[in-house]
Parts: sequence; C-alpha cells; structure tokens
Amino acid sequence: MDSHEVLLANYPDGAVEARNFRIETADVPELGPGQVLVRLRRLGLNAGLANRIGGPDTAYGPGIRPGDVPASDGVVEVLDSRSDLFRQGDLAVRKSPWRSVGVAAVEELHRIPTLEADVPLEAHLTVLGHVGFTAYTGLMRFGGVRAADTVYVSGAAGGVGSCALQFAKAVGATVVGSAGSAQKVRLLGELGADAAFNHHDGAALDLLRAAAPDGIDLFYDNVGGEQLEAALEVLRFGGRVVICGAASQYGSGGERRGPANYMRMIYRQLTMRGFDVTSNEDLREDFESDATRWLRAGKIRSVHTVIDGFGRIPEAFASLLSGGNSGRMIVDCDG
Ligand SMILES: NC(=O)c1ccc[n+]([C@@H]2O[C@H](COP(=O)([O-])OP(=O)(O)OC[C@H]3O[C@@H](n4cnc5c(N)ncnc54)[C@H](OP(=O)(O)O)[C@@H]3O)[C@@H](O)[C@H]2O)c1
Repeated sequence: MDSHEVLLANYPDGAVEARNFRIETADVPELGPGQVLVRLRRLGLNAGLANRIGGPDTAYGPGIRPGDVPASDGVVEVLDSRSDLFRQGDLAVRKSPWRSVGVAAVEELHRIPTLEADVPLEAHLTVLGHVGFTAYTGLMRFGGVRAADTVYVSGAAGGVGSCALQFAKAVGATVVGSAGSAQKVRLLGELGADAAFNHHDGAALDLLRAAAPDGIDLFYDNVGGEQLEAALEVLRFGGRVVICGAASQYGSGGERRGPANYMRMIYRQLTMRGFDVTSNEDLREDFESDATRWLRAGKIRSVHTVIDGFGRIPEAFASLLSGGNSGRMIVDCDG
C-alpha cells in the first residue's frame, strides 16, 4: 500500500516556509498484535509546533529536527485491525505523524463514537478536539468563567480562541474578542462576540477600552505582549487572567515583552494563572458532554480553514504561521 510522509528538510532561516519540508514515500510495516492500520483523513495544524522546530523536548512532544516527521492531531480511519477494540471503517482521533497511511497502537486512538457520525469530521479537531479541550480547561477550571463575567479573548479567531469565545458565550458571559484582520473581526461577530476589534487598528489599550468601557472580569490570553498589558489595565477588582499561550512572543528570542504594569495585580487583587492542558485529563468527560450538547443545540460551531490535499501540508503550515487561517487550520487528506 502507498504511503507518503512529510519531513522537516532543513531549519527555517526566519519564518517557516513550505520549502523547509519535503515529501517522501513511506514504508508501511506489517501489523502486530494490538495494532491497526490507519489512513489519515483530516490533519489539524498548530502554531505552537513551530516553536518545537530545533527546540528541546517538552510535554507537547519532542523537538523537531531535519529528517523528523512532525505530528499533530488528526482524524484517522481504520483500514485493517489486529485488535478486538477497532474494526475496519472505525474513526478515531490520534496524535498523527504527518503520514498518509501508517500503523498505530490502539492505545493511541481516541474513538469517535458512531452516534457522532453526523458531526462533521473537522469538529473533532476543533470544538470537540484538542483546541476545544484547551479552551474549556482554561475557561472552566482555571478561569472559573461565570454568566455574569465580561470575558476578553485574545487571538479569538484562532483555533483555541474561537472555541474560548464560543464556550464563554455558551455559559452566558459577555465576550470581547480581538483578531488580526477585518475579516476575522467579522467572524467574531458571527460567533456571537458582543464586541470585537482588530489589534492592528491602534494601541491595544485604546481598542480594548473602547470595546469594554466598563472593564473585564476574565482575560483568556493566547497572545501575550501588548494585549496582556492592556488587559491588566482594564481588569476589574478581583479579575482573573488565564495564560493559555503567547503567540506574539514566539520566535522573538531575547526581545520578549513582559507586562510592565504587573503591579496592578496588587492594587486590584488580580490573579494570573498559566496552565498546560495535558495535566487535566480528568476534565475530559465533562468537556465532551458539554461541548457535544452545545454543538447539537447550535450554540457553538466548528470554525476552521480547510486546505485540500495531503501534499499541501507544508503550505498549510506556513500559511498558518502568517495568519492565513480563521479558526483551526485543517488539511483534508481524502483527495
Ligand atoms: N496551555 C496549553 O495547554 C495550550 C494548548 C494548546 C495551545 N496553546 C497555545 O494557545 C495559543 C493558541 O493556539 P492555536 O492553536 O489556537 O493557534 P492559532 O490558531 O495559530 O491562533 C493563534 C493566534 O494568535 C494570533 N497572533 C499570532 N501572532 C500574533 C501577534 N504578534 N500579535 C497578536 N496576535 C498574534 C493570530 O491571530 P491573528 O492573526 O488574528 O492576530 C493567531 O491566529 C498558542 O499560543 C498556543 O501555543 C496552549
């Protein structure tokens, strides 16, 4: 059976480009006991993966070096099985190497129940997937979101951000979002944001004050830098900050920007909490039940940009890093 894989060809000289990757034919090993043969159908891409190119091994996975095949979450279909747990045709989510057909141990697979057969495959990589679980964990466990809150989400048109915005709305909160283009700001309105702004339109503090004139209670931060500083200025007494990511600081080396106004945390008795979603598996059942219910009730939807063709993974990844996506960047590998 034919299989192809995407490898890192060389380290980027500056921004990651499609030419930093190459595609090769891959061997498909014989199946052993407890293993399944899977075909990659949808692959989700993350900005954070760029941070691992040439970087150290972390909780999210090993550093990526030339010759390595990166991995990210994907929807796979079982083609053949040597396990009682999976049959041909079953669908599952797994952290998938960027390989069109490969062998997986059944423990790596998270089954997609047949009763979710009507849910579009992409949703398993967005509102029902890892980015959704990240948004849910940050908002519910570390942010303690409540219906009475005004929540500000930065990077709100991104994979995690678009879930955080919708989940906060689903619990009844008032939500302000920021994104990097007029088109993305329109999307935030369609997703139910009560106010939204383009962070390129001026100083973050002025834009945030105009969008949330009475202040905010909770900041769900995906980008850090100037937007974190602005949020600390407008948080009400006892406000909370959840640090999910710092996309504006990735790749900035020694030039990283911290919040110069962090002393407001004292006067306003603010709390700031970082988290790593991988230590919160005990919350997964609650997440799946809430997110599926909200999806069926039409309160949330999958927000994604789809690029067709396994061979376009490098291009899709490079485009993700230059802000070419609304919601999760997903490659449809069926074609
Ligand atoms: N804590 C955890 O366990 C955990 C788990 C998963 C992900 N994360 C983190 O969560 C964040 C979001 O992940 P994601 O998968 O949703 O990524 P994503 O879809 O790429 O979204 C990140 C967004 O950040 C914005 N951004 C990038 N550079 C920026 C800059 N210089 N200034 C302002 N905004 C900038 C971009 O939005 P615009 O183009 O609209 O500006 C981009 O869409 C990342 O930082 C990621 O590392 C954390």
